[in-house]
Amino acid sequence: MRKSFYITTPIYYVNDVPHIGHAYTTIAADIVARYKRLTGYDVFFLTGTDEHGHKVEKSAEAFNERPIDLANRVVKRFQDLWIRLTISNNDFIRTTDEGHKQAVQSLFKKALDNGDIYLGYYEDWYCTPCETFWTQNQLHEGKCPDCGREVEKLKEESYFFRMSKYQNDLLTHIRNHPEFIQPESRRNEIISFIKEGLRDLSVSRTSFHWGVPVPGNDRHIVYVWIDALINYISGAGYLNDPDKFARYWPADLHLIGKDILRHHTIYWPTFLMSVSVPLFKKTFAHGWWTNEGKKMSKSLGNFIEPVKLIDDYGVDQVRYFLMREVPFGLDADFSHKAMVNRINSDLANDLGNLFNRSLVMTSKYFEGTVPARGQGNNRLMDIQEKTFIQVENAFNELAFQKALIAIWELVSAVNKYIDETAPFTLAKDEGKKGELSMVIYNILDALRVITLFVFPFMPATAEKMWDGLGIKEKITQQDLSQKYRWGDLPPGAELKKIPPLFPRIL
Ligand code: MSP
Repeated sequence: MRKSFYITTPIYYVNDVPHIGHAYTTIAADIVARYKRLTGYDVFFLTGTDEHGHKVEKSAEAFNERPIDLANRVVKRFQDLWIRLTISNNDFIRTTDEGHKQAVQSLFKKALDNGDIYLGYYEDWYCTPCETFWTQNQLHEGKCPDCGREVEKLKEESYFFRMSKYQNDLLTHIRNHPEFIQPESRRNEIISFIKEGLRDLSVSRTSFHWGVPVPGNDRHIVYVWIDALINYISGAGYLNDPDKFARYWPADLHLIGKDILRHHTIYWPTFLMSVSVPLFKKTFAHGWWTNEGKKMSKSLGNFIEPVKLIDDYGVDQVRYFLMREVPFGLDADFSHKAMVNRINSDLANDLGNLFNRSLVMTSKYFEGTVPARGQGNNRLMDIQEKTFIQVENAFNELAFQKALIAIWELVSAVNKYIDETAPFTLAKDEGKKGELSMVIYNILDALRVITLFVFPFMPATAEKMWDGLGIKEKITQQDLSQKYRWGDLPPGAELKKIPPLFPRIL
């Protein structure tokens, strides 16, 4: 049986339309999912929407509609965007799905029954935009320490989860599994936070209604974060598909932004411990994007809209830029100037030109047909192997930028090979026909390998390149861990004319 790989994105709140931050996490997850499929894994890639809670209820009131109508309207925006961004998720979960709600109730009951959830009284602060509880000491100048917005004083009956009970087990787990929280800096941050002492977590609310009722006491609704986190197992068949659950859980990777680290690395694993479900293998928290140096916010009205970016630059250009511009894990600043530079230099110049001139040469010297296989070029073969190792390692560390840099070294090596072998000179000499054929074959075969490497990042472009190379087998059926080697391009294949891959931006 093939090895499985389960990857998730956060599920997005439906109180707002999608922006570049949401697209960022989802594109990164898509790239990993595609890479894993391409290297032989049976992948399950889950994304979805977080539809309950006070924030969504309030937004719906402001729009004068029912929360479910708001959710139904906004969920379309996310789903449409994922199609435009060529996201290859295998499923899409909504927390308003019946099956999910049942899983939430069943797990909540399990923790109630084992004594880890008890009824008490909550009297402290709450940040509705973050849907997060705070103590007086944690506030910064009376505001939410995460987002800086107003908090409100809550005073209500609430169920509590005995999170404190799991403090030591969690610390031990984190210590014994260095990969559990990544990057390293985030791991250290969480270790210090836990060492300060975990308090029991308030896990129900009574002052509004939009959510999953607590089993046996429907005056309470389940805290939206507990509801939301459970999507990762309910969406993998926890309650109703044991085979699927056994195949994919524990998740290999929860990809998240740095703002929701604590929820994923403290609330979630301690809750899983309580209900006796094994812990996920890894969480990786990426940084935040600002827009031309400014934090994106509603008040500034400066959210970068992914659809607008795609319209202006093209979907693969956007995917490439977001992954190439900054190391994954660090904060990043978006600027149009940087975007245009990347498109013109890396994409149009380096990759686009290489592809284009190689096809032109083949059509000129071999009537557009892949010539006979001669002998591989040692230098190119070495670089292909090195690239594969570097890309594998980069994917293990979620270092997308490193992977792209390695792939572009291969692009430069092929450009250099063309300059050194000078096919245009060879073509002038009838006696060098054999050599010319070998050189052109090697160039085209290297392009085949580059196309495979590029595919997870820029799937539509890679499909075009694949088509241009005249290969009949589907790109999605290739196994990159074998096919990075020289010589798989079938001689005799007819190349196809394709328009320039990346038009220059003036
Ligand atoms: N609903 C919760 C997640 C529940 S997961 C069980 C939530 N949703 S969200 O819609 O507010 O945000 C989801 C993701 O978008 C987070 O990973 C967050 O980091 C990311 N981003 C939101 N703004 C961002 C930027 N400006 N830059 C990069 N990512 C950002 O939180």
